[in-house]
Amino acid sequence: MRDGVIEDVGTRAEMEALPEARTAEKLDVGGRVVLPGFVDSHTHLIHAASRAEEYELKIEGASYEEIARKGGGILNSVKKLRAATSAALKERALRALKKFAAHGTTTLEAKSGYGLEIASELKILGLHKELNAAQPLEIVSTFLGAHVVPAEYRGKADGAERYIKLMSESLMPRIGDGRLAEFCDVFCDRGAFTVEQAKRILQAGRQWGMSPRLHAEQLTRTGATQLAVQLKAVSCDHLEQVNKSDIHALGKSETVATMLPGCDFHLGLERYAPARALIDAGAIVSLATDYNPGTSPTVSMPMILSLACTQLRMTPAEAIAAATINAAYALRREKTIGSLEVGKQADLAVFEVADYREIPYYFGVNHCWMTVKRGRVIHAA
Ligand code: NIG
Ligand code: FE
Repeated sequence: MRDGVIEDVGTRAEMEALPEARTAEKLDVGGRVVLPGFVDSHTHLIHAASRAEEYELKIEGASYEEIARKGGGILNSVKKLRAATSAALKERALRALKKFAAHGTTTLEAKSGYGLEIASELKILGLHKELNAAQPLEIVSTFLGAHVVPAEYRGKADGAERYIKLMSESLMPRIGDGRLAEFCDVFCDRGAFTVEQAKRILQAGRQWGMSPRLHAEQLTRTGATQLAVQLKAVSCDHLEQVNKSDIHALGKSETVATMLPGCDFHLGLERYAPARALIDAGAIVSLATDYNPGTSPTVSMPMILSLACTQLRMTPAEAIAAATINAAYALRREKTIGSLEVGKQADLAVFEVADYREIPYYFGVNHCWMTVKRGRVIHAA
C-alpha cells in the first residue's frame, strides 16, 4: 500500500522480492484472513435513540405496521430526532461508526429520513458531511425525505402532495446547491409513498443531481421494483415480496438487488427475499445491514453474512462478494473500493479465522481483528 492505495498484490515471496519492499513498513497479520473492507450500502445512520420499547410489542405479535399506526415506528423516531441537538446526534453516530469499523466496515451509505421537515433533514445531511471529515470511514449521503408523510401533513386533503411539493421545491434545491446528497431514496410501500409518487420524487431528485434508489416490496408488493428498473435506479432494496416478473426484470438490469436480511430477522418474519432466484436470474445481489432503530438495529456485516448463508441460502463466497464489490457497485464506487486490486483504495478487514467460510459460520461473535482504511489501521482488536 502507498498513500492509501493498493500498490501491488501477491504472495509474500512476490511482495518481498519487490525493490520497494526493503523500505516498506511491514504489517504482519499472522496468516489471518484478509478481505476487502465491507461496503454497507444501506443504513439509516443518524437517529436519536433506539426503539427498544417497541421490541416487546413485536415479540408479543404486533406487526411493524400496527406499531406504526399507533404512533410508533418511523414517526416515533422523527419526534425524537427533531428534539435532538446536532451535537447529540453526532455523538451517537460517532459511537456507531466506531462499531461499524470494529466489524470490518470501511464505507457506508447513510440516509436522512427521520427529519421530514426542511431544517431537520438539512441537519442530518449536514452531519453526513461533518462525520465524513471527523472520522476515517467514508459516508455516502442519501436523501430520504420521502420516508413517510410527516404527522403534520397527515389527515389533510392533499397532505402527501403538499409534502412532496415542499421536498421538490424547497428542500431539493438546497440539497443540490450544497451537494449534500449523491442519492435520492423513497420508501415505496403501503403506509408510505405510492409508485406514482415515488416516480415524481425520484425524477425531481435527479434534476438536483441525486441518482435514484428505492426501498421496494418490503411489506407489500407495489411494483416499485419495476419502477426502479425503468428509472435505471442504482439499487432496489428489501425485495421480500417480489414476484417472478420483478425477479426477471432485475436479472436483466444493472439495478442492484440489495438484500437486508437483518430486518426479517429482527422483526421475526419468515419470508426473506428470494436471493437464490435473483442470483439465478442474473441480478447483481448485494447485502447491507439497514442499520436503523425500527427494523434492523445492527452494525454487524459479519452477522448479515451469517443470515445470508442460512436464510438466503447464499454461499459464503457469494455473500462476501455481495457485501464488498457488489455493494460498491450499488454506491457507484466499484472502480475505487470493494476488492483488493492494484490501484484501488487500501481498505481491508482482517479476521481472526483460519478459513473465510468461518466468518459467517461463527455467527453472533465478532472475529474482525483489524480494519484498515486508506492504508491506515483504524481498528485493532
Ligand atoms: O429500511 N422501511 C423503511 N425504512 C426502514 C425502517 C425505518 C424505521 O422503522 O425506523 C427500513 O426498514
Ligand atoms: Fe432502510
